Amino acid sequence: MEINKVYNEDCLKIMQNIPQNSIDLIFADPPFNIGIKYDKYNDNLSYDDYYNWSENWISECYRILKKEGSIYIAIGDEFAAEINIILKRNGFYFRNWIIWYYTFGQNQRKKFSRSHTHILYFTKDKDNFTFNDNNIRVPSARQLIYNDKRANPNGKIPDDVWQISRVCGTFKERLGDHPCQMPEELLDIIIKASSNENDIVLDPFGGTGTTSAVSKKLKRNYITMDISETYYNLIKDRLDGKIDNNLKKSSNNRVVEKKEDFSTLFDNFG
Ligand SMILES: C[S@@+](CC[C@H](N)C(=O)[O-])C[C@H]1O[C@@H](n2cnc3c(N)ncnc32)[C@H](O)[C@@H]1O
Repeated sequence: MEINKVYNEDCLKIMQNIPQNSIDLIFADPPFNIGIKYDKYNDNLSYDDYYNWSENWISECYRILKKEGSIYIAIGDEFAAEINIILKRNGFYFRNWIIWYYTFGQNQRKKFSRSHTHILYFTKDKDNFTFNDNNIRVPSARQLIYNDKRANPNGKIPDDVWQISRVCGTFKERLGDHPCQMPEELLDIIIKASSNENDIVLDPFGGTGTTSAVSKKLKRNYITMDISETYYNLIKDRLDGKIDNNLKKSSNNRVVEKKEDFSTLFDNFG
């Protein structure tokens, strides 16, 4: 198994070649099956096809994760309940149902604006897993507001609702023509909490490579993949530090600047 590697391949194929019990942390942000326009993947499967496909890749995640390993899956409202059940049926233990409240919601015309994504946090073992609480503590209300002597001076463990902005189409952090770039801040919490330096962090759905970029910054090893060649090249350029953030051009002068604000795409859903 090669580490610190990006693959341009189907995640099932890659994971099937990874030895069992070898990965410390998996973060997966799969397509939500809501008709998002990806470069190659068709995000519009039948209910059964999406469900069965989810079962296949989640059971592979279980096989390759170490006994003390953790998995976090980002998922939309439409399939959050199903993914939760699939995780349990595969033997994972539930720890948190995190809500990522992204404040910069997608505008809707005939319903309330969606402004959250679910992040399901499970571990392979019920009791033994990495959780570095001291690496993720935040100032508590007892400290900040009440000046309470009982406050833990190191702060508190964050709540399970995380308020972090999306990386919208107009943001300077936006790396290219990909509709779903995750904010680094979100991965920073997960990777610090559930892995240690030199651990292996795997993301089956690389996209723009956020998980691997943050893993690299935090001195973790990474493995990631994407079925799209365009996104694969984007991830490689990002990890190799070849994207000029001002020009938004990759090393070979491929323009990766987005052409429109993709947040408007979400207007079409539902
Ligand atoms: C929601 S995006 C991930 C975004 C990523 N978290 C980021 O921060 O950029 C899902 C990605 O999965 C990729 N994908 C879909 N099916 C795949 C498969 N079977 N194997 C590998 N990648 C796949 C899509 O091309 C898309 O880039």
